[in-house]
Amino acid sequence: MEMIFALDKSIVILLNFTFEMINRKNRLQPRDRRGFFLNDVISLDHFDRKSILKLFKETKKLKKIKGKKLLKILSGKLAALVFFEPSTRTFSSNSAAFKRLGGQTIEHQNPASTSSSVKGESIEDMARMFEQYCDVIVVRHPVIGTLERIAGAANVPVINAGDGIGEHPTQALLDMFTIWEKFGKLTGLKGLMAGDMLNGRTVHSLIRGLSIFPGNTVYLLSPKQLCLSREEFRLYSKRGVKLIEIDSLNQIPEDCHFWYWTRVQKERFKDKKVYEKLKLSFILTKKLVKERAGKDTLLMHPLPRVGEIETAVDSDQRAVYLTTEARNGMYVRMALFKLILKG
Ligand code: CP
Repeated sequence: MEMIFALDKSIVILLNFTFEMINRKNRLQPRDRRGFFLNDVISLDHFDRKSILKLFKETKKLKKIKGKKLLKILSGKLAALVFFEPSTRTFSSNSAAFKRLGGQTIEHQNPASTSSSVKGESIEDMARMFEQYCDVIVVRHPVIGTLERIAGAANVPVINAGDGIGEHPTQALLDMFTIWEKFGKLTGLKGLMAGDMLNGRTVHSLIRGLSIFPGNTVYLLSPKQLCLSREEFRLYSKRGVKLIEIDSLNQIPEDCHFWYWTRVQKERFKDKKVYEKLKLSFILTKKLVKERAGKDTLLMHPLPRVGEIETAVDSDQRAVYLTTEARNGMYVRMALFKLILKG
């Protein structure tokens, strides 16, 4: 009797383990086939046209709610915001988004020195702890691949808030929403990306995002040392987005739908002298806007900026980096949380 009971118990444990593994594995499948509900957001590759447009329609609805009033959609839900790298926008807009939907947050800034990772706790164990307390985990980490490890360990949805020089999918989604809101489409666009193509994770996600839609052309303006890796250039080009590398301001084409300026990523340079030499290779000035931007060209930047946009550009009607683009970050993240946690 005891033997049968022991056997039953081990079968139950084995079955539970198998179900849990299947469950975790399923959550790591490309998301376009499975929708948003309880899924991770690690890369723009998880999305397809349908899911992006669904997210944007939801965003538009939430944006229409007047007075930024608090909703109750996520009442009783908790999000863990765990940021191993500094942040102004991504941290605050995630926090604001979750709270505006009626949820609450556990917030860890700089956990590398304030959490038990100081004592040697692994990232997987940390993720499993947040899973005990929270419904979703938003993580920024300096090392590519860490977000996949966290998503593999935690059995609640995990959102990538930036993984080193890898990706920043929610930033790209808010950038794409800003473009879609202005032009009503994500196809047949002509855009410029300038700055650090090699290390800029927002650039990597945005190109991936634009490659999901047909007919897009992106001019990439950077010093030679900071151009896209050849591997990424080939990968994205194969997907259908037309990438054209340029190395001077004079080559910026007329009538772009958007200019997406970026910061040269100081924290990714081993040799700070090289950074100093390259950091202001291309500056967005009022004069440049006057000479080369179209009348509707969106002037975008994921921020922070550190000298690569003249402050005189800020008051231009086309400049959205300090206003619409940043604000859209909160609305897109509200929509994403709603779809992930409520379906
Ligand atoms: N755009 C962006 O990621 O900004 P933060 O680093 O301030 O979050």
